Amino acid sequence: MSYVSENSAIVNSNDGALLTIQNLHKQFELHTQKNTSIPIFNDLSLVFKKSECTVLVGPSGLGKSTLLKCLYGNYKIDQGEVLVHFDDENVDMATCSAQMINALRRNVIGYVSQFLRVIPRVPAIDLVSEPLISQGCAPEQAIEKAQAMLRRLSIPENLWNLSPTTFSGGEQQRINIARGFIADYPILLLDEPTASLDHRNVQVVIELIHEAKARGVAIVGIFHDEHVRDQVSDVIINLAEVAQ
Ligand SMILES: Nc1ncnc2c1ncn2[C@@H]1O[C@H](COP(=O)(O)OP(=O)(O)OP(=O)(O)O)[C@@H](O)[C@H]1O
Ligand SMILES: [Mg+2]
Repeated sequence: MSYVSENSAIVNSNDGALLTIQNLHKQFELHTQKNTSIPIFNDLSLVFKKSECTVLVGPSGLGKSTLLKCLYGNYKIDQGEVLVHFDDENVDMATCSAQMINALRRNVIGYVSQFLRVIPRVPAIDLVSEPLISQGCAPEQAIEKAQAMLRRLSIPENLWNLSPTTFSGGEQQRINIARGFIADYPILLLDEPTASLDHRNVQVVIELIHEAKARGVAIVGIFHDEHVRDQVSDVIINLAEVAQ
């Protein structure tokens, strides 16, 4: 299959690698703005392993969120490979089909972006149960799990059947977190998941991360809060040192 890496021996070495970046190059071309080029990554190689939380650090504007978007297939990869371990194969996100990217998002990679992209009229409970239903879980069971997750993240019950359009920033963030953690993805990408949360909910997110690591999940996260970083990180990568 064309999307399987030719270098797959590197990630078949049984070392727990679930996600491997090889020689990634990325730059933005702004054709409508004087054809400006913004170089982001030049020959970046990284490995993310089972049961480890890798925290990306570096100055604002360096490309931390861009990297997570490349790993989720939101941004095109100019050169290099992003190999995702799936069904005993290594799928290259840089060359695989759109259908394969959808399958990876359904079954393998969860992503908590900093801001929820709110879909008007879809109630919070349906947003949170949807990842489980799309994996084939029975709707009643998915709803039960979603309720437990919303309760755990202190979303008041009278909001469960409302669209999060009118929710506060912290409530929207918690809906996003609930969606990311409900479906037990082997890989989780977290972009500042605790940025707008109060202390109690930050603690819940730290617990969710510890539980995910114990299940074997490979986590790639961005956390500005040093307290959170200290509690969850196994590996810290300064992108300023490895990306340019
Ligand atoms: N879609 C895009 N089109 C053009 N430029 C972009 C795009 N997305 C990001 N950039 C540029 O890429 C650079 C890196 O942005 P990114 O959001 O990845 O930074 P970051 O490290 O996450 O910063 P912060 O810590 O502030 O969140 C910035 O200069 C930004 O302007
Ligand atoms: Mg960012």
